[in-house]
Amino acid sequence: MILHSVGPGPGALAAPAISRELRGAGCDVEVILEPGARSFVGPAAFDGAVVDKPSRPPDALLFAPASSGTVARLAHGMDTGLANADGAAAFVAPDLDAATARHHAVRENLRLLRDDGIRLIENPDGGMAAAGVAVAAILGWLGGPLGGVRVVVTAGGTREPIDSVRFVGNRSSGRMGLAVAREALRLGAEVSVVAANVERAEPGTGWFPVETVQEMKDTVMDLAEDADALIMAAAVSDFTPAERLSEKVRRRDGLKVEFVPTDDILAAVRASHPDLFVVGFAATHGDPVADAREKLRSKGADIIVGNDISQAGIGFATEENEVYVVGESGVTFVPQTSKTEVARVILDAMISMMCKERRE
Ligand code: CTP
Repeated sequence: MILHSVGPGPGALAAPAISRELRGAGCDVEVILEPGARSFVGPAAFDGAVVDKPSRPPDALLFAPASSGTVARLAHGMDTGLANADGAAAFVAPDLDAATARHHAVRENLRLLRDDGIRLIENPDGGMAAAGVAVAAILGWLGGPLGGVRVVVTAGGTREPIDSVRFVGNRSSGRMGLAVAREALRLGAEVSVVAANVERAEPGTGWFPVETVQEMKDTVMDLAEDADALIMAAAVSDFTPAERLSEKVRRRDGLKVEFVPTDDILAAVRASHPDLFVVGFAATHGDPVADAREKLRSKGADIIVGNDISQAGIGFATEENEVYVVGESGVTFVPQTSKTEVARVILDAMISMMCKERRE
């Protein structure tokens, strides 16, 4: 049984749809209206599912919407009004406005929940995640092949500052990384996205915006502590200016920039987290398979996804891609197709390799 606790907040208006869709998918759902929730939604909207007390210990708890108060109570082990829920899987869909979501105490509480194994269903744009996103996350978690797996995805392209207004960047749009994040969510994973200069946030994911290689490295290292898999889809700058000028350089002064190599994030994470499943990407001019095989070894990745960027219409800043998914045991060619389809093949390869590792 899923016990759905509905808190006060605008997200409560979407709560009946969540309960209804879960029941439609065959789940047994009982609903508790938290004090204050009735100002937003009444019991009649839940088709008789509202109870005063759960009829039995639940298998899963869902707090949707969860106010900042509920998030704080859960994070600090305070009474949430739900006894007998030990051992139940817990899902929290916070309903926070942008200012509340930025508050350091709230961010810390969300981190505590994540560390406790509670599955957060967030909306990076503020407010509660849409009903469909919450339902997909719960159903995926309960029955999907990546249920219970924590995946970190990097997306977009880093920017290295030259002076106060200029940077060295690349043309990555973030679409490949977001497609991987979306598909991993659909398969039940808990997904965190480390997003370098990506315009649109992906609903349902933990969203960690960064700008530079160093920021991406710090964030990835932090998230890797609790992750099962890392998928490095971002285009990470290989070079950074040797010095960053604090003011805007004038045209008349001219500009010469010396570059030094950046830290290799993938290799650093692999060295400190030998059990993490790591997927890297390699954009190559020419034979992608040879380069991918070489990087598989040199970086210690489990899979390298190679593509030939000399071909027009695939890869950077386009809707489609054509890749070779290269692992120790072989190569899968994915002819030109949508990035969503490419993401599915990559995740399928990852799932079968992770299952094999578990069996061995
Ligand atoms: N990568 C990384 N840190 C960097 C550069 C790249 O973690 N500083 C990751 C990328 O996200 C990608 C993989 O490493 O998943 C391969 O990136 P690529 O630029 O092809 O690798 P390099 O080691 O920089 O090799 P090359 O000599 O081809 O530039």
